[in-house]
Amino acid sequence: MGFLKQSAKILLSLWLLGSLLGVAGGCSQPTVQPTPPVAAAVTYTEQYRPQFHFSPPSMWMNDPNGMVYFEGEYHLFYQYYPNDTVWGPMHWGHAVSTDLVYWKQLPIALYPDELGYIFSGSAVVDWDNSSGFGVDGRPPLVAIFTYHNPDLAKAGGKDHEYQGIAWSNDRGRSWNKYPGNPVLPNTQKLQDFRDPKVFWHGESQRWIMALSARDHVQFWASKNLKNWAFLSDFGREWGAHGGVWECPDLVRMTVQGSNEVRWVLILNLNPGGPQGGSGTQYFVGDFDGKRFVLDTSFARTLREKGAMWVDSGADNYAGVTWSDVPAEDGRTIFIGWMGNWDYAQQVPTSTWRSAMTLPRELQLMLTGQGYRLFSRPVTELRKLRDDSLAIEPVTIAANTSVALDIGFPVSRSEILLEFELPDSGSVDFGLELGNDLGERYRFGYDGSARQFYSDRTASGDASFSEKFPGVHRADRMHEDVMLRLHLFIDAASIEVFADDGANVMTETFFPTREFDAISVYANGGSVRLSKGEAWSLKSIWQP
Ligand code: FRU
Repeated sequence: MGFLKQSAKILLSLWLLGSLLGVAGGCSQPTVQPTPPVAAAVTYTEQYRPQFHFSPPSMWMNDPNGMVYFEGEYHLFYQYYPNDTVWGPMHWGHAVSTDLVYWKQLPIALYPDELGYIFSGSAVVDWDNSSGFGVDGRPPLVAIFTYHNPDLAKAGGKDHEYQGIAWSNDRGRSWNKYPGNPVLPNTQKLQDFRDPKVFWHGESQRWIMALSARDHVQFWASKNLKNWAFLSDFGREWGAHGGVWECPDLVRMTVQGSNEVRWVLILNLNPGGPQGGSGTQYFVGDFDGKRFVLDTSFARTLREKGAMWVDSGADNYAGVTWSDVPAEDGRTIFIGWMGNWDYAQQVPTSTWRSAMTLPRELQLMLTGQGYRLFSRPVTELRKLRDDSLAIEPVTIAANTSVALDIGFPVSRSEILLEFELPDSGSVDFGLELGNDLGERYRFGYDGSARQFYSDRTASGDASFSEKFPGVHRADRMHEDVMLRLHLFIDAASIEVFADDGANVMTETFFPTREFDAISVYANGGSVRLSKGEAWSLKSIWQP
């Protein structure tokens, strides 16, 4: 968050100017807000524009916020700066979807006000009207977010982040800030005190908040979302600590194939992620309504590996899960920001910056090595499948490559590939995306090291940051001789779900001309591609 300090002065003046001109509304009462700029002119056809990922029509976006399901709609709010394509005074942008695939943009939900910028947070359905914000017997939506006060930050008193709430009685279309804000002041004067994630804990009949505090998570409790009491903290001695802990999420999960219930703490970290910069780690344990206690076998995993990552690519950050997914659905649905603070503000997109990852279902598995979090693309995404093609089985001889003629643009596709590893296991193989400018991206498996890798060293424009190019590696979790890759490619990104979601890598790239060729290659031995299928995917933005 060094950028915060550097640009605070300019941003503050921009924001003040905006306030004077009536651009940034905001006070504790409902206000009439201006429509977001430029929405009408946006075509979603710009270079690098994702076609089936959510991205803002224009300007800057970072973390997903306030994800909640209510009355048939998945809400997606997001950190948004409507006046520039770099980070600035934060608002909550807003979109809704009935299926997690097609998104409808709505006006900005929350504007900065005299208490500060609106940083990340969550939203819940207050089913029993514990807050008293409900009207006519209908439950209100309540957003719980961090106020970041730039004046106090400048003054250096370390008390510039505190928590506020807002509610909506019209399915999130308009929001009222609570006049009693802040509901959780920063009396401890913690320099980083933010990103509240709140859920209802039935056993203790109260709301629980997970909150990041620089190098640990704090848990707070409330009966009404307005008065909060400290419960406990976790994490100073566990996991990765290469940077600031941000955006926590505590989720109750049933271990797949059993009735066993565990709690998973998701914790975002910047810098210090698995590929440098931003990353998302997780912890498995129990929560008794007061305290999160690490599972002893998972503690062993952490002692051995240091940290466990939700995604080992460079570009999945600030992800948390949806609140209030109906019990009959039962899924834990996650979405992240497809970016990395190391270079997100420099990437070569034009009128907007950043996209979200695909929504994923998280599953907790008990594997031979202990509890592990798997990620799979939500099944709703299948409705995007258009033309399909079966890829013929082929043996790729050592040090050769085989072009796959899929007949539709690989730059907007979904691909399933199943490889059979040779007995020796030592072959290095994978797939390559390319264009006629000689730019190429590789995702492969290095059998000798037993690692997946994503190689974007020659993938196109990388001039914007020396931290961008590189080969990113991750240990393979599975040991099967069959290796399955499930890939989604969308203009400037790839998401790889390997071995049914045991290993996940999300990476961005910027080929100066779209990738239009795909091949599979093998080095140091041969490998058999035993099965394959590819689909071109529909655009969610073009008719
Ligand atoms: C994470 C983060 C959060 C903060 C927000 C500010 O990317 O730094 O901790 O609330 O972004 O935009």
